[in-house]
Amino acid sequence: MIGVLLIATGKYDVFVQPLIQSLKRHFLPGYQVKTILWTDKETQADLCLHHKHEPWPAPTLNRYKTILSQRELLEQFDYLFYMDVDMLAVDTIGDEILGDLVAVQHPGFIGKVGTPERRSRSAAYIPRREKSVYYAGGFQGGRSRRYLDMCHTLHNQIESDRQKGITAIWHDESHLNHYLHYNKPGKVLSPSYCYPESWEMPYVKRLVALDKDHAEMRCG
Ligand code: GAL
Ligand code: GAL
Ligand code: MN
Repeated sequence: MIGVLLIATGKYDVFVQPLIQSLKRHFLPGYQVKTILWTDKETQADLCLHHKHEPWPAPTLNRYKTILSQRELLEQFDYLFYMDVDMLAVDTIGDEILGDLVAVQHPGFIGKVGTPERRSRSAAYIPRREKSVYYAGGFQGGRSRRYLDMCHTLHNQIESDRQKGITAIWHDESHLNHYLHYNKPGKVLSPSYCYPESWEMPYVKRLVALDKDHAEMRCG
């Protein structure tokens, strides 16, 4: 059984139904897939968990804490995948995504170092001298226990930054990149799985990151 983890509070609820419908059609066809949704709205998923809205960036920074609040339940799944809710599956996403720990190369920084955290005060710090790959935060997963263990570490790192009063440059994505730099993911997917809607890249569009007005979506 495969669990898809979705968090949609505030204005993000508009993305939920189109995404879930697209997953029914394209995401791991032939497998038993269940959507688990944390939301403050009345909307449908296989499992809905009530979750209070907080102003951005708290929902994204707290995503690992949110996921871990259901650790026992989530351990029953074979694989877990988190995806941003402002996405849409547009082509088959098959068992090529199954792996122990799965990450996506960020579409903006193929072959480049990207935008990791460079302030040593943050737990997300990666020194400049270390050559790193840059991963996108929008799609990630793996075998259930392996993924939840990563969530646990990331939650602690984010909490440690919060206590120091520092927020990593790209929030949870910076912490994810730190983690994956020191714990290499067994499976690295191409930007097909985090493909910006309006870009033209030499990859098949499978999971699209929708163009949206981030400032407008994040206020309120
Ligand atoms: C942007 C993306 C952000 C973040 C950033 C990292 O393209 O929209 O969410 O990933 O790259 O530099
Ligand atoms: C986005 C990414 C999100 C989150 C955010 C952090 O690019 O898709 O999952 O990591 O950056 O600012
Ligand atoms: Mn997004």
